[in-house]
Amino acid sequence: MTAQLNARGDVAVLVPAAGAGVRLGPGGPKALRLLDGEPLLVHAIRRVAAAPSVRMIVVAAPAAEVDAVAALLAPVAPVTVVSGGAERQESVGLALAAVPDDIPIALVHDAARALAPPALIESIAAAVRSGRPAVIPVLPVVDTIKQVGPGDVVHGTVDRSVLRSVQTPQGFRRDVLAAAHAGATDPLTDDAGLVEKAGVEVTCVPGSDLAMKITRPLDLVLAEALLRVP
Ligand code: CTP
Ligand code: MG
Repeated sequence: MTAQLNARGDVAVLVPAAGAGVRLGPGGPKALRLLDGEPLLVHAIRRVAAAPSVRMIVVAAPAAEVDAVAALLAPVAPVTVVSGGAERQESVGLALAAVPDDIPIALVHDAARALAPPALIESIAAAVRSGRPAVIPVLPVVDTIKQVGPGDVVHGTVDRSVLRSVQTPQGFRRDVLAAAHAGATDPLTDDAGLVEKAGVEVTCVPGSDLAMKITRPLDLVLAEALLRVP
């Protein structure tokens, strides 16, 4: 039987968590690294499970850690755990394959964005429910961005006002995401990129500072501090 959360929910959340965490430095898969004494994945899943729209959660775990991840998450929420792939995109595809056809909305949410709040999950789900085929949370870009060529020579300055930093969860009509994955050729770092390539309109909604991605050691320090914000 498929593990269910809210039976009336219309959302499956796919959580790619199979990455190595190379940029975080030595210490094992990133999703299992500790933040305030608990694995990042536990922080992420607790927040996903608290969103009322969520009927099902599928985690793509490192192949060697599938049983350990299932045991780790069992006390946190009902979760389906699958073995992830070599690329993030493959991990998402494997998780998507575990979602039954009667769930109309799929969200893809990086375990590395462990502090993304339930309200963000709900706002993405609501935008898809209202008829948008693909919805992403974004923040304005704060740094000035330069185009740089060979020899580290600056070619130009990009107009920052048209740029956005993209977060997860990204939300999709499940059939739209499935078609985009089925037609994918090159691996991309986000799922909206795949559906864009398929010609589907992607809509931006406001992201959250709490949905920052934990990538490098300093990000763990920042996340630890965010946990203390009342
Ligand atoms: N991910 C995955 N399968 C992969 C690679 C990445 O499920 N083969 C997941 C990661 O676990 C993470 C998310 O995709 O939750 C975003 O990837 P990233 O932040 O790059 O994490 P890692 O790949 O683990 O980190 P790094 O690139 O530093 O090794
Ligand atoms: Mg990676």
